[in-house]
Amino acid sequence: MTRIAVVEGDGIGHEVIPVAQKALFLLHPEYEYFPVEVGYGRWEETGCPCGDTDIAALKTADAILFGAITTPPMKDYQSVVLRIRKALDLYANLRPVKANGFDIMIVRENTEGLYSGVEERGPDRATTLRVVTRNGTERIAREAIRLAEKRQGRLTIGHKANVLKSDVFFRDICIEEAKKAGVSYNEKFIDALSLDVLQHPQAYDVIVTTNIFGDILSDVASYLVGGLGLVPSANIGDRYALFEPVHGSAPDIAGKDVANPIAALRSAAMLLTYLGDSRGAERIESAIGGVLASGTRTRDLGGSTGTREFGAAVLTALEKSEPGH
Ligand code: NAD
Ligand code: IPM
Ligand code: MN
Repeated sequence: MTRIAVVEGDGIGHEVIPVAQKALFLLHPEYEYFPVEVGYGRWEETGCPCGDTDIAALKTADAILFGAITTPPMKDYQSVVLRIRKALDLYANLRPVKANGFDIMIVRENTEGLYSGVEERGPDRATTLRVVTRNGTERIAREAIRLAEKRQGRLTIGHKANVLKSDVFFRDICIEEAKKAGVSYNEKFIDALSLDVLQHPQAYDVIVTTNIFGDILSDVASYLVGGLGLVPSANIGDRYALFEPVHGSAPDIAGKDVANPIAALRSAAMLLTYLGDSRGAERIESAIGGVLASGTRTRDLGGSTGTREFGAAVLTALEKSEPGH
């Protein structure tokens, strides 16, 4: 039996994940779905945002559907999202940004770099160590190359090797791996790349980069498709996989029924592709496309349809779609 852990998390996670879960249930009523409650809300209630038993529960799932978790900038609060990514060794964070005329896959290293968690805070100085390892870089480079080979065969390495020794290391290993695989590559400094992606999105296929640069680049690139409400992601390791929108818990709009559920729906579609049901993923994508084409839109896209109503329209379109090709 295929088991799906469902984590709503905080904020708009409680609004967009039920929509995505209903889409999954419609296509796969035979899966077992079980909730895992972690996050800031849980911390406020119990003093613990995520326990070892929650990590163990997540590890029993074949795939995890995840909303978003609030991470307050407090000095002793550890991000639950980062903890889960590390505990499950979800080293590849895949963030597709595509529309008519371009199809970009951002491949973000997800377990080290500036988010390694090696930090110190003293009274007058605070430091965060940017750790880039050979093993960590080889595995993300190989994942990006595998994807490039299945797509348009082009790899761009995004880095800041003009300044950071850790990025000279990252860049060199990515180039070594690309040469070994015979994949054509180019490289760009991450600051210039962030603008060029917006100006010439069609010039990119797979972009591989370190943790924080991939984090920022994916929010920037979401501008190309209408913002954060539309971009999904997959967090993949050798044993586990977690699917979540690129956006966060959006406290500014939480509880107002205005969040766009498309990023969560597309994350559910990525989950299905991972489990081998690429037809199910296509059906979710075309149901979204059909609803948008009819002019129904949430507020972020200039419309006035609420989260629940938009979700219901996608589910109706999904029900009507043909299971086969
Ligand atoms: P955010 O992505 O939550 O929101 C940024 C802006 O985009 C906000 O104005 C928000 O209203 C808008 N937005 C986001 N998703 C939307 C949607 N589906 N529909 C319409 N508008 C949407 O980023 P933030 O405000 O910087 O962070 C809020 C909290 O979320 C923080 O605590 C942060 O740490 C956390 N966060 C969590 C994750 C995660 O769980 N993976 C990801 C990013 C941020
Ligand atoms: C994301 C988020 C997370 C990250 C935070 C909440 C830890 O911004 O998923 O993009 O930095 O990866
Ligand atoms: Mn982010």
